[in-house]
Formats: sequence, structure tokens, C-alpha cells
Amino acid sequence: METPGWTVKEEELMQTSWIPFIPESASTVSGKVDALYFYLSGVTVFFTLLISGVLTFFVIKYRRRTPFEIPRPIAGSHKLETIWSVIPFIIAMSMFGWSAQIYFENARSPKNANEIYVVGKQWMWKIQHSTGQREINELHVPIGRKIKLIMTSEDTIHDFFIPAFRIKADVLPGRYTTQWFEATKPGTYHLFCAEYCGMNHSGMIGSVIVMQPTDFDNWLSGNSSQQSPAVAGQQLFQSLGCVSCHGANGEGGRGPELAGLFGRKVFLTNGQTLIADEGYIRESIENPQAKIVNGFNPIMPTFQGQVTPEQLIQIISFIKSLQVSNPQSATTTPAPAAKAEPSTAARPAAPPNSK
Ligand code: CUA
Repeated sequence: METPGWTVKEEELMQTSWIPFIPESASTVSGKVDALYFYLSGVTVFFTLLISGVLTFFVIKYRRRTPFEIPRPIAGSHKLETIWSVIPFIIAMSMFGWSAQIYFENARSPKNANEIYVVGKQWMWKIQHSTGQREINELHVPIGRKIKLIMTSEDTIHDFFIPAFRIKADVLPGRYTTQWFEATKPGTYHLFCAEYCGMNHSGMIGSVIVMQPTDFDNWLSGNSSQQSPAVAGQQLFQSLGCVSCHGANGEGGRGPELAGLFGRKVFLTNGQTLIADEGYIRESIENPQAKIVNGFNPIMPTFQGQVTPEQLIQIISFIKSLQVSNPQSATTTPAPAAKAEPSTAARPAAPPNSK
């Protein structure tokens, strides 16, 4: 967990920005969020001053001068009303368009991102890199690489918040949420839980340590005795007996083949289709009857309570690693337990229609 040569207290090293109340800007998206934030603040300040100034001016200029004064009737003005409707509309839409653009960029994780698993529990953050390296309340990342966090909770709702990166997302029990970032500046930054989660919520904090890529690679290889989540998942897959139905070569055909499953379209008995993601695989392990793949029987028992959230992540990451290496050839693949049969047409899982 400790960085070699780490002597100064972390608080003293925490990066702060030169603007008061604004955290350091240290990711590719943080500058964009700040620009939007300053725009929103600027518009707000401008109109607050304008309206209060005009209000004060009118209050003085059109004040009642005699006790029985009756104001002159006003007929209204289409021109004025059009102006004060159209201008705010344009300003509001510019806020919407700009925010939506940043939101979509933030919400869609890039395909080539390095994946890091995050499990929240009362009251700590457990983090595991795809190489197996584990951390608690610390997250080491390199600059200049896209990092995708795949997050879940063991108990209540938490929220993973890195102010310097301007990213923040809820961490939910029974679901996977993701967020991504690319750090731009080496340093140590705050990590917060931003959702009240019980007594020690305020203590559910940590630090994000952004390193140069070479330093990061050294750090990552410095403690490589730990198993990668995919390898641990493969062992679970064996020990829980999953392999007897989802065998390496599709033995028995009792369960759908898993090689290449992740990210693929799945056809269900009820005619629906979905894309296999983390949430679907988790549900199929904990509540197998919820979605039955077309052509298969609902025979799989539930594994709810038998696997912890961390073990679920390991199994998911094992299934993700089962890629069909060459879909055009029918030879076996080198991947563990991978099944290379390329065509789904010969499988009972084939869709009844080409929807
Ligand atoms: Cu976890 Cu607040």
C-alpha cells in the first residue's frame, strides 16, 4: 500500500489549486467542467447584478411622490416580451447543449481503457487492478492513460468522488456502475465517499496517487505476487462447479457458451435481446431464472450468498477474458476454458428470428 520513500504526511502533499474553493484540475475532463461551471456562474452573476440594479433604479425613479398618485396604465409590448423570452431561451439551451456534451463524454467509457475494480463497504474503498494488485483507500494511477472504474458495493449506497478529476458516481449494492478518467498531472488527490452511508461516512476517504507511467509500472510490478482477478475467477469457476455446465468445450451444452460472451448480443426465451455486460452476468449468477438464454432450460441453481461481491467481480473478469481469439477458424483457442466454435448457428442458442 505504501509508496516507497513516502515520508511526508499525505495532507501536506495534497494538491491544491490557486483559486480558492476550487480543487486542483488534474484530468482531461476537469478543465471542461470548470469552463462550464464558470460560464454558469458568470451568467448567474451577470443577471443577478443586472436585475437587482434595474430593480433598484426603478424603485427610486418610479417611487410614489404623492399619497394619492395613480400610475399610468401600461398596454404591454410584444417586442419586449419576445426579446425577454428568446434571449433566455438561447442562454438556457446553450447551458443544456454544453452540459449534455460533457455529460455524454463522461458517461461513455472509452473502449480501450484500463479497468480497475472498486468495491465500497462501510467504511472503506477496496480497489483491485486487473493485474491483481490490491489497495485500500488508495488508488494509484498513471498519467496519460484512460482508466475505467467498475464499481459495486457490499452494503449500502456509496459514491466514489475524485474532486480533482471532476468525476463522481454512485456505488450501488447489486449493480455495477462505471466512470472513467485520464489523469494529467502527477500528485496526490483527495478521494471521498459522497453519499451518506452511516456513522463513519465522513471517514470513508482516501487518496489518489497519480504517477508517471514508468513509476506506475514499477509500482504495479512491485507487488505482483497477487493473483489477477481473472485467474482468481477461473479458480472459482472450477471450485463452484460452473465448469460442468459451461465447460471449456461446451460439454453437455447445458449452459450457454461463455467464450466471447461479454459485450455480445444475447437472445432470451422471452424474445428479448440484450448486450451481455457486468450487470447481466452478475444477475445470471445470483438469479439465473431472471433471464433464460434462448434454447436453454432454466436448470441453473442460484449462487446468491455463495459468492461475495469481490468474487463476483473475479468471475466476471474471468468471463471477460474468454474472448474468441479467431472467430473465423474452428481451431481451439489458447485462452483458458475458451471455446472456439465460431458459429452460433449450430448451437441451440441461435435466435429464432433475425431480430
Ligand atoms: Cu460510503 Cu459515505
